[in-house]
Amino acid sequence: MEKRRIAVLTSGGDAPGMNACIRSVVRSGIYNGFEMVGVVRGYNGLITDEMIPMDNRSVGNIINRGGTVLRTARCLEFVTEEGQKKALENIKKNNICGVVVIGGDGSFKGCRALTSLGVPAIGIPGTIDNDLAYTDFTLGFDTAVNTVLDAIIKIRDTMASHDRVSIIEVMGNRCGDIALYSGICGGAEYIIVPELSWSFEELCDKLETGKNAGKTSSIVVVAEGAAKGASLAEEIKKRTTMDTRTTVFGYIQRGGSPSASDVLLASRFGNYAIDLITKGIGGRCVGIKDNQLFDMDITEACAMKKTVRKDLYDIAQILSK
Ligand code: F6P
Repeated sequence: MEKRRIAVLTSGGDAPGMNACIRSVVRSGIYNGFEMVGVVRGYNGLITDEMIPMDNRSVGNIINRGGTVLRTARCLEFVTEEGQKKALENIKKNNICGVVVIGGDGSFKGCRALTSLGVPAIGIPGTIDNDLAYTDFTLGFDTAVNTVLDAIIKIRDTMASHDRVSIIEVMGNRCGDIALYSGICGGAEYIIVPELSWSFEELCDKLETGKNAGKTSSIVVVAEGAAKGASLAEEIKKRTTMDTRTTVFGYIQRGGSPSASDVLLASRFGNYAIDLITKGIGGRCVGIKDNQLFDMDITEACAMKKTVRKDLYDIAQILSK
């Protein structure tokens, strides 16, 4: 009798830790007696039948590599009935009994579609944005924060040498967590996130007060969903005597070797997802809350509204005097 197969795919923006998660899914699936296939370029690979058999050796030496060996993409065709029909034909043709999807909220919608088509699918939160409300952390977020932190430290060296203000724009889509966490850890004087109101008056007052108190540099971290770094710098120049420089970190935040924390999370998430598929469970997503793994209905998870950690924001304001 043909062995049952489990497919794994990565979808949406890539995130450090995806490869460690693919490795965990493949090796956990094989451990539980399944054959494993990797789907290339997210849901597109289900539609075009681009799937590669994966064994323990296929995922050798990828645990600490950024990006995703399966490639990723956003797939509009899978949103259509026609696309889902093609995908289902290929899933049946390849004797696939379950799918593990590593991606963000857009990718989770595909999990729901697959499960409603009778194919148990499990979502693993993989995005640097940390914008999925149901889980404390998403895969790749910790690495992105550390990447930004490392750059903030370097930027402070040169800003302090020139008595300058550095405006640093970071990713996160409509979520401010990368800015908030990296700003706190980098000792930023001011953090701007889309979830909380702020004012130029308050910002400029903080910068001038710092300068008068002897600060040789100030760091302002702004989330891309809140404002553009360049326009912030222009406005500060108009309102103060401060010399400012802007850095937009961009795609460096999406790459790099995953942090130990993200590799551990990836390994735990992948193994947990396979346990669910092994029991024939689908339509759920894996998360972490207070360092405990859990799973929940994926529709309920996607309906939850993300809130900002105001407690952390308040601490940042106190400590950045
Ligand atoms: O969702 C992850 C993310 O990096 C966001 O932070 C960013 O705004 C977006 O992807 C960029 O999308 P793309 O890779 O399609 O340019």
